[in-house]
Amino acid sequence: MTDLRNAPLAEVDPLISEAIDNEVARQANGLELIASENFVSEAVLEAAGSVFTNKYAEGYPKKRYYGGCEWTDVVEQAAIDRAKEIFGAEHANVQPHSGAQANMTVYLAAIQYGDQILGMSLSHGGHLTHGHPMNFSGISYKVADYGVSRETEQIDYDELQRIAEEHKPKLLVCGASAYPRIIDFKRIGEIAKNVGARMFATSPTSPDRLLRACTLRRCRTLIT
Ligand SMILES: Cc1ncc(COP(=O)(O)O)c(C=O)c1O
Repeated sequence: MTDLRNAPLAEVDPLISEAIDNEVARQANGLELIASENFVSEAVLEAAGSVFTNKYAEGYPKKRYYGGCEWTDVVEQAAIDRAKEIFGAEHANVQPHSGAQANMTVYLAAIQYGDQILGMSLSHGGHLTHGHPMNFSGISYKVADYGVSRETEQIDYDELQRIAEEHKPKLLVCGASAYPRIIDFKRIGEIAKNVGARMFATSPTSPDRLLRACTLRRCRTLIT
């Protein structure tokens, strides 16, 4: 009889094993153009597929709801320290495991249910979590949106300022999923400051520019 705990995946579940092999070939031979996807190193694959998948670790390092978290704490603390160093941030929460969850964390931490937000429209390159009506963000908050100019197809910052002054959002959401131009985070930060909003940048595609803008202005920006 097969020892299920020690047998290789190909033996335990050939269907899944074959799908993984086919995905390896697809990624190696195809052309991926999805900005928020990521191609990790062997080392990251090794860490992500480790025994930590077995562990419960609710809470934060040294403040857990479960025992046996001493090695989990080492990993989580290292991730916090590294994120703070890279982003020059005062705080880092490394627990969300997707961009959408990270964005939800920011909304929950920064504003109240029903507050006004201003985000980039999905059809202009923004993301569902910027306040789209089908998404938790559009259901939970009052939403105004901004987008690109018809003529230049770039973010219309003057119009963004006008909309911000009209709606006085608590949170101005920027960053985009499908916007191939350079985003002027500094200008958006100024617009946010002028209307008393906090700036929330969700930026899978240009974190370097975002970082520079934030470091320059020392602005209290929330970043995912
Ligand atoms: C700007 C932005 N925010 C959030 C997300 C959501 O990320 P995830 O798919 O990891 O939940 C994306 C994904 O494309 C994104 O582009």
